[in-house]
Parts: sequence; C-alpha cells; structure tokens
Amino acid sequence: MIAYDKEKGIFQLDTDHTTYLMGLSADGFLGHIYYGKRLLHPAGTASLHLHEVPSPAVLSREKMTFLNTFPFEYPTGGAGDLRQACLTVTDEEGNNACELTFDRAQIVDGKPALEGLPASFGEAQDVSTLKITLKDHVLDLSVTLLYSVFPREDVITRSVLVTNEAGQERTLTRVLSACLDMDNDPEGTSLLTLDGAWARERHIEVRKIGHGRTDAASVAGESSHQENPFVGILKGDASQDHGEVYGLTFVYSGNFLGSCELSQYDTLRVVMGIHPDGFAWTLKSGETFTAPEVVMTYSDAGLTEMTHHFHDFFRAHLIRSRYLHEDRPVLINNWEGTYFDFDRDRLLLLAKEAKANGIEMFVMDDGWFGVRNDDDRSLGDWYVNETKLPGGIKALSEAIHDIGMKFGIWIEPEMISPDSDLYRAHPDYAMQIPGRIPALARDQLVLDLTRKEVRDAVMSQIEASFKGAQIDYVKWDMNRQLSGIGSALYGDGRQGEILHRYVLGLYEMQQRLLDDFPDLLFENCSSGGARFDAGMLYYSPQIWTSDDTDAIERLRIQEGTALVYPLSTMGAHVSRCPNEQVGRNTPFETRANVALAGTFGYELDLSRHVTPEEKALIPEQVKRYHKYHHLIAEGDYYRLVSWNDRTPYDAWECTAKDGSEALVTLVQVLGRPNTHSHAIRLKGLDPSATYRLEEAVGATGREYAREQSIWTRENRIEPRCGELKKEYFGDELMNIGILVPDLGDGQSRLYHFVKE
Ligand code: GLA
Repeated sequence: MIAYDKEKGIFQLDTDHTTYLMGLSADGFLGHIYYGKRLLHPAGTASLHLHEVPSPAVLSREKMTFLNTFPFEYPTGGAGDLRQACLTVTDEEGNNACELTFDRAQIVDGKPALEGLPASFGEAQDVSTLKITLKDHVLDLSVTLLYSVFPREDVITRSVLVTNEAGQERTLTRVLSACLDMDNDPEGTSLLTLDGAWARERHIEVRKIGHGRTDAASVAGESSHQENPFVGILKGDASQDHGEVYGLTFVYSGNFLGSCELSQYDTLRVVMGIHPDGFAWTLKSGETFTAPEVVMTYSDAGLTEMTHHFHDFFRAHLIRSRYLHEDRPVLINNWEGTYFDFDRDRLLLLAKEAKANGIEMFVMDDGWFGVRNDDDRSLGDWYVNETKLPGGIKALSEAIHDIGMKFGIWIEPEMISPDSDLYRAHPDYAMQIPGRIPALARDQLVLDLTRKEVRDAVMSQIEASFKGAQIDYVKWDMNRQLSGIGSALYGDGRQGEILHRYVLGLYEMQQRLLDDFPDLLFENCSSGGARFDAGMLYYSPQIWTSDDTDAIERLRIQEGTALVYPLSTMGAHVSRCPNEQVGRNTPFETRANVALAGTFGYELDLSRHVTPEEKALIPEQVKRYHKYHHLIAEGDYYRLVSWNDRTPYDAWECTAKDGSEALVTLVQVLGRPNTHSHAIRLKGLDPSATYRLEEAVGATGREYAREQSIWTRENRIEPRCGELKKEYFGDELMNIGILVPDLGDGQSRLYHFVKE
C-alpha cells in the first residue's frame, strides 16, 4: 500500500510487515525517514534531522551543512553533500554539481517494465508503484525514482530513470539505483557479504561497519566469483533468527557496487547500483538512462526471515521459466566424465549407462564444435565437429531421445578464440584496445556484444547448428572476466558505456534464445558460479553454482548462495572422487545428499568413476530427488547449524509452507573422538502437531556413531548413539530436537518428518 500525504510531505509505503517512509524538506529535498517494522500510526518528518540544520536551507549561511547532513533519499554530489552520491552528472563545462528537488509524484497499479533489463514483475493485485520525479533546474535534468511495493513478500524494489531535458548532452559518471540513509544502531551495524573465488564462491563474511566506506563490489564486467551483488545489513547483534536485518540484491549481471558509509555523525548510508569505476554514459538531449533494479527487504527476525522473503519473491516475481515449479529432469553432464575426449559413440555409451541407472537427461558439455579438442581454440565457430559427431546435433539429439533420455548442450556465446575462423574473418569482433597486447584469459577474448552484427553473427550460427534438433536444455557458459577491453563502435570517446552495453547485449541474446526455444530448460554458468545473480535468474531458473562439486566445499558455497537465492536455482551435481578440484574423498551418499539441496544431477563417467555398489545407489537417489523436490524447491529453507560457526557438522531443513513435512540434511564434516550424541533442533513446524519420522536415510533406529566407542570399567565397548523415535511432537522437535551422534568424516543423514 502506498500513501502520499501532500500536506505533511510524507510518502508511506507499507508491506504486510514493514513500513518505508520518506519526507520532503521545506526546500523540496526528499529525505529518508524510516524503514523497518510496520508502523501502526502515520509518522511525521521529525526524523529528517531538520531541527539541527533548519530547512529552508538553500539561502541560509549553512546550506552546505544542511546538504552534508540531510538523509537524502537519492543523494547527488558536487553541491555540498560530501558523502557517497548516487548520481553524478557532468555538464558541458565539466561541472558536476546536482541538486534534486521534488517536482511531482504518481501512484500506479502494477509495475512498469525496465527497458532492456531484467526486472521483477507482478499484477495489480500483487504490486503497486510510486514514481517520484525530482529535478535539477540548472542542468534541466529529471530523475524519477521508482518504488514498487510487494506487500505479501515484504519487498520493495527500486530503480531510477534519468532524463536529459536540456538542449545539450550530459555525461552520467555515476547512476546508482538505491540508497538507504539511516541512523547507525547504537550497538553498531555489520555488513554481511558473499565472497570467494573460483571454486569457493559465496562464502558468508560478516564485518563491523566502521567509519568511512565498506564495500561489496565487482569491476570484472560480471557479478563475479569474488563478490556477489548482495549486501546484508545487520543491526546490533542480529543473527540467524534474531534481530533487525536489511537485505539488498541487485537484479543485474555486470559491475556492481554495494557500499556502506558511516559518517561523522554516525549516520549510515547504504547505496547499491552499477559500479561507477570506468562508467561514463553520454545522455543526449531527450534521452533517458534506466538504472537496473534493486530488491530490498527488511526482517525483524534475523537472516532466516530475510531469506524467506527473497526466496518467495524470486519464485513469485522474478523467475519466469515454467520449470520453476516443475521437477527438473535428473541430468548427467559429460564434462568431468570425458572433458574434451569424446565422440558420438562414447557419448552414446555414457548415455545408455546413465539411462540404465535411472538418469533422465544427457548433457553434452564443451568440445562439440569447430576443432575444439582443448580449450585453446574455436570459440566463435559454432558449427558441429562432424568428425566427432557425424550427422550433427540433430542426429545426436535423436539418438539420445531414442535411448529414452532428454538432450542438453553447452554453449559459450560471448567469447572468441584468437584461433578461430570467426576471429580470422572479423578480428574487430573481439573487444580490444588498439595498440595494446590483448589480455587473454583461458586463451580467449570477449566478443563485442555491444554491436548488433556481432550478436547476430553468433546467434545465427548457434541457431543453424541447433536447427531441427531435439534440444531440451542449454547451459550458457562464460569463462573469463572482462578487462583490457575496448569496442570499435565506441572509439569516439564513449568506451565508458561499453561494460553496461555489453550486459544489455547479453540480455538481448539470452532473450532471443528463449524466444527461439520457448520450452527450453535454461541454465546459466560462468566458470562455475561467477554470474550467480538475480539478473540471470530472470532468464534461467537455474545457475551452475560452482565448478567445485566437492561435497564438503559445497556446504559453504551452498549455505552462502541459499541465504539469498532459492535452492531450486542452485545447479548441484554428484561428481567423482578423489574430487577434481580439491582431491578429497567423500562418501557417494553424502555427495548425493548435498547435491539434493539444488538441481540434482551427475557429472562423471559411470563406467569408470563409480564402484558397482555406488552405481547401485543411483536409481534410488534419482527417485529421492523427485520425492523431495517439492520441499526443496517450494518450501521454506532453514539453516539449523552451520559449519561456519565452528561446529564440526552442518545441517539445514526444507519445510513445507504449511508445516506438513520437513526434510533435514545433516553432514558431519570432521568426525571427532570421544563425543556424545547431540540435539539438532528443527524450525518452522506446527508445535501442536505430531510428526512421524517417515524416512531416515543412512540412519538406523539407534544411531551408532562411527567406531565411536568408549571403554567401560569392565573393558567392554559401549557404542555411543543417538536415539531415533518413530514419532515426535512439533514442539519437541523444535525445542528438544532429535538426538544424532557424531558421525565419521563426511558422513551424512537425511530425516523426513511428516505431520500426522
Ligand atoms: C566452465 C564450466 C564447466 C565446464 C567448462 C567447459 O568451467 O563452469 O562446468 O562447462 O567451463 O569448458
């Protein structure tokens, strides 16, 4: 619900449990008053700090002090506010002062789309939108702030339209999408970010915000392995299930900045948007720039509730694919099974073996095109290697379908190898800076997706190779970060636009693929999980989470990813051991139990990489995925115990929204000597109901621990154990919990509870 009180100059945005308030100063500056728990009574402008430095301030001797302390809703630089700005505009003389004051406001049902960009959506009954237009009368610049309010999910989305109403060009060197200008908590505030590297993406990190700026950012041209376009703001001692938490995610797949600035007066300004480093956008007279969307939510019950808001919101209002609510076919991908060493016969053997064990889809990864027998060449040459695959994709896809499986294929359309026919014919299609030695990564360069003819050249080749084939799934990969790049099209001094234009080009290409194949199950990927962001989820319902498939490393990766993104979006596979990334051995059952928390699949050669005993488990694991998929994909996700908190084990729970069932996964990372069994407490159940323990995978009635025995006085061995009952009360499960023993290294259990 949105209300605008013209007399008081107050805008009030209510969701079911939160309120967001803004107010106007006497000079027409728009300030932030409050974001938090839903208010029962209308508020005033008292929290705008106006009594300290009165407004009207514009003609007073303290105009700068006013500007430098006012809690701006959309701060601009150059005129007096020395804190971090959201908007910087350069005029024809090079000045960059900007002062935005209120012009008009409008409330509309529903939510307008953002041109060329992924964005959340909803009908009039789901969402309404407030448009506040501010103006700078010297620059003739109009700035419209968009706030879309989704009451049910307790989410408010933000974006910004900047229009040049002057007769001459302006240059935008910073256009962020959202700002939250709040008072700091007396007990301090912490920033939670998802940080990592290739093969260890999105580990949770929490640090206290000190004076000055603390950032999460990417300047890699993609959202990156290193940091994720998400910031969590934790007030005081807020934690998993307690305290006030704000979450902001960016619906964008390129450079981003999420920054917190603690000012001299202990106010906290949080901003999010396209990273301003290297960004410069020429806005011609009459043109509008659209800043991508930020999704904001607030919880007064810790991180768990924040996670539920994001999961519910992304599922209901961002992911468009019909597969969102469908069981995905359990796939086998040949990458770690064969790497580049395959031909049609070998693939068909792999597929037959997989089919015999209950696997439902075969995915051919890198190596099917040009002369790509290693990763040094052929990106850009999207025609089939007929030596490997006589008859092309069509014949292979038919043969796979004849086996009774669906068929999927890998592509990497954004890249070009210097050793490729495309590069030899069009070297200018690669983004390079004239006179510099190009910065290669994995021996590849980046295609200039800012240019339509380049996008067309690649997409039309792919379309030709796919023609007539039965393609059920595509994995779209992107295997390097963007640096040292230049576009032949923007050599007139506008290279500052190319990183954003690249992302716009990428979105257009993915939309074209979806239009070509409306029933496609589409998965994004970027060297593992370098582009796991909400922008990508608008196009694909799932994203490859990490190239690291080790069950233990995945615990941290999946915990961090699931803090924001639904489990149904996390690509997760069972792979071989010793693990290809860390060399670790883990039980086959544990690899499957961990992969079950995502889009379940396999990535190995079943004839070489598993024992007969392990292979025999596969049909059961496939069935288990289908049995529990509704809980994992549609339920509420709870973190029960985190290995990050120095416990030797990790546990999470997926619970039906109505509390009728729950699936608990427990993984012991390291076994310990001399331990007692311990209680794992469940969450989100009906306290007054009785729950039946319907299945306990890997567990016996009395759960004996690994060789975990003690010597009694009589020198007898007494195994220590946890007791499992057949029935529990809901409040018993949530308060006392179930007793589980310490297991051996890497051992795991699944417990399925059903309400009687
Ligand atoms: C990336 C992906 C892998 C695989 C390879 C193929 O690293 O993350 O899953 O597809 O590329 O080259």
